[in-house]
Amino acid sequence: MDVKSPVVVVLGTGGTIAGTGSGPDDVGYQAAQLSVEQLLQAVPGLHGVALETRQVAQIDSKDMGWAVWQALAKQIQLALLRDEVGAVVITHGTDTLEETAYLLHCLLDIDKPVVLTAAMRAATSAQADGPRNLRDAVRVAELAASEGLAGVVAVMAGVLWSGHAVRKAHTWHIDAFDGGGVEPLGRVGDNGAVVFDRPWPSPGRVGWSCLDVAEPPRVEIVTSHAGADGVVVEALLAQAQQLSFGLAGLVVAGTGHGTVHQGLARALQKAEDQGVRVWRSSRVARGGVLPREGDHWQAAGALTAAQARVALMLELLGCPVGGMKD
Ligand code: SIN
Repeated sequence: MDVKSPVVVVLGTGGTIAGTGSGPDDVGYQAAQLSVEQLLQAVPGLHGVALETRQVAQIDSKDMGWAVWQALAKQIQLALLRDEVGAVVITHGTDTLEETAYLLHCLLDIDKPVVLTAAMRAATSAQADGPRNLRDAVRVAELAASEGLAGVVAVMAGVLWSGHAVRKAHTWHIDAFDGGGVEPLGRVGDNGAVVFDRPWPSPGRVGWSCLDVAEPPRVEIVTSHAGADGVVVEALLAQAQQLSFGLAGLVVAGTGHGTVHQGLARALQKAEDQGVRVWRSSRVARGGVLPREGDHWQAAGALTAAQARVALMLELLGCPVGGMKD
């Protein structure tokens, strides 16, 4: 019997992985120049894999936003609902990968794998890491599909991270990602061999329809720091009133274990009194903010401020994310 291997659909969104510069030694480059089809052509060792591609967006991921998330979610759903599709791979910029990965982790409600990858060097660089990362992502997707694994993961520099925990931890190292204290799920060797070390976390299953609104609730991030007097929050409240946009939530990236300067705390309290939801995360890279009895503002657990913003938006949309504090 001819057993066909499952199709892997590769969705392109741009990023440095698709970036080009003037030559191999050029450290300056433009992100999001090459199509996902062109990226795959540069990857050796994928013959025999049934690949399909879609270009969902072509952006530097610093410009990621609701509309691209909606388009991406739609393509993921369309792909994963097809019986012959085993997995989706997404090429993304590194800068907001942690937000997209976390969002998709929360939304995913189909029992198939979604694998994100990216690169820290442009495609034209002598140190280009995109081809290897893309090969690794496709290999992980294939194997995970054949083993019946489901969930959102990210593969960078040969390491497999859980989508709910992955974050950018270095501004220029090739191995720029970590799990904020959550151990890798596995590894991909130089030869492309994939080893899964840990069970994949279950997808959040809040469902894709959570994105079916034209505009998400406005949730802003503010940082606590020396001299943080809350003027930024006051300005947001005043603007929200004047321009009549709804300010629905604030995530504070607090000091240490989510502590907040008293000046900023007063302004946050005023915001809360006006109906704005306030969550506390930390500006410290590891450890997060664990909930404690008597907490006034909800602790964001292990989430980064950017991920907590996503979780709070989903909650305000009526799609609360269970297990956020894992
Ligand atoms: C981006 O996030 O799109 C640019 C930076 C990168 O991918 O490393």
